[in-house]
Amino acid sequence: MFSVQSFRQRGGKAAGAVQAGAGLFAYSRQVDSWVVTTQKPVRYEVRFCDDLFARGSRDLVDAGAGPAPATGRSRRFVVLDANVDLLHGDAIRDYFERHGVEARLCVVAANETTKDFETAARIIAEIDDFGLDRRREPIIAIGGGVLMDVVGLVGSLYRRGTPFVRVPTTLIGLVDAGVGAKTGVNFNGHKNRLGTYHPAEVTLLDRTFLSTVDRRHIGNGLAEILKIALIKDAELFDLLEGHGELLLEEKFQGVTAVGAQVADAVLRHAIHGMLEELQPNLWEAELERCVDYGHTFSPTIEMHALPALLHGEAVCVDMALTTVLAHRRGLVTTTDRDRVFSVMHRIGLPSWDPLLEPELLAKALEDTVRHRDGMQRLPLPVGIGDVGFVNDVTAEEIAAAVAEQSTLGRVKATGVV
Ligand SMILES: NC(=O)c1ccc[n+]([C@@H]2O[C@H](COP(=O)([O-])OP(=O)(O)OC[C@H]3O[C@@H](n4cnc5c(N)ncnc54)[C@H](O)[C@@H]3O)[C@@H](O)[C@H]2O)c1
Ligand SMILES: [Zn+2]
Repeated sequence: MFSVQSFRQRGGKAAGAVQAGAGLFAYSRQVDSWVVTTQKPVRYEVRFCDDLFARGSRDLVDAGAGPAPATGRSRRFVVLDANVDLLHGDAIRDYFERHGVEARLCVVAANETTKDFETAARIIAEIDDFGLDRRREPIIAIGGGVLMDVVGLVGSLYRRGTPFVRVPTTLIGLVDAGVGAKTGVNFNGHKNRLGTYHPAEVTLLDRTFLSTVDRRHIGNGLAEILKIALIKDAELFDLLEGHGELLLEEKFQGVTAVGAQVADAVLRHAIHGMLEELQPNLWEAELERCVDYGHTFSPTIEMHALPALLHGEAVCVDMALTTVLAHRRGLVTTTDRDRVFSVMHRIGLPSWDPLLEPELLAKALEDTVRHRDGMQRLPLPVGIGDVGFVNDVTAEEIAAAVAEQSTLGRVKATGVV
């Protein structure tokens, strides 16, 4: 068996010598197996870029753009969340017009219940109709986490890979869904069951979009930030503990000097922490991922609760359960456990849900174990700001933890407290 490093057949003939990277190896009729090894370098940029659609800003039209087309016509296919269209559509249309870019806007009602393959297929059909030139016209996605995930999938499928640019407009989008490589849609009642790894060439983070996001969805994003804080960044936790309500109140718009400073620090900590974890393990070959914290039971809980619990809310309920588990194992002190619950409540997040029944949790764990190659690899907080992985959690232990959680926890902000 040969290992083919670089394969170039001369003159299209099946005989003769083939040039390999390190030297020549001879063609042989005896060889009946080839192993091809190659590497695909990945480089993408995540950049703060407030007031993206302001006069004079060219960042979005320049992002990921290939060489100028021979026709001189500049075009973009823009997938736009329907709610973002209502709130910011005029500014977006004006922007492309001002820059002489022919923009085809594809407006999508993006939410967890429409995060499916049909929505992706509809967008693909429109892209095909547009006749997108994949080398010059990156798809632009403007919206929340759902839109980022769906358009990412579309980009990875269309012509086996079409570049795209992300403009996340929710907090989850800014700190999580917009910065990684994963794409996906829900399928067959399962969360993100179909998906690919296809990072955007460029993600432009414009936090002014958050001014129109409602409080509940700001809290939803704060849950993913709390995740990073709990497993790797005690300083970030302190910021949330000290200023969580202010962040919720000011929606990261820096209304006050303190608010501006904290919002900036929190976003930088959260994004840096996330990328620090993602970069060395972008394709998830390593299955012990600390950013999976809060994502062991939550995919099943979220899909069962749909649409009652938002993604971050389901993640928070999972984090509350695993904080109790960690406390019961002596990994987290009582004081720290109570601090965690207190932060969750102050930023309006649920820390318990009536769906947390032992059978559903067992099913959720079973599904996650299948996803994690037969082992639990359950991330648990160690104190505040560190993580450990366990593989021996039992159904009894979960049941006892849930019982305790139900006395400490609260349901969604609008429900009983
Ligand atoms: N790929 C990843 O790594 C990753 C990471 C985290 C989350 N996710 C996914 O992200 C999704 C959750 O994202 P989300 O919370 O952004 O949900 P979402 O995309 O459904 O957006 C929430 C709501 O806010 C609206 N909206 C968006 N921008 C707005 C704005 N600027 N002003 C007012 N309203 C606005 C949307 O229309 C929607 O109704 C989940 O499906 C989750 O699986 C993916
Ligand atoms: Zn998540």
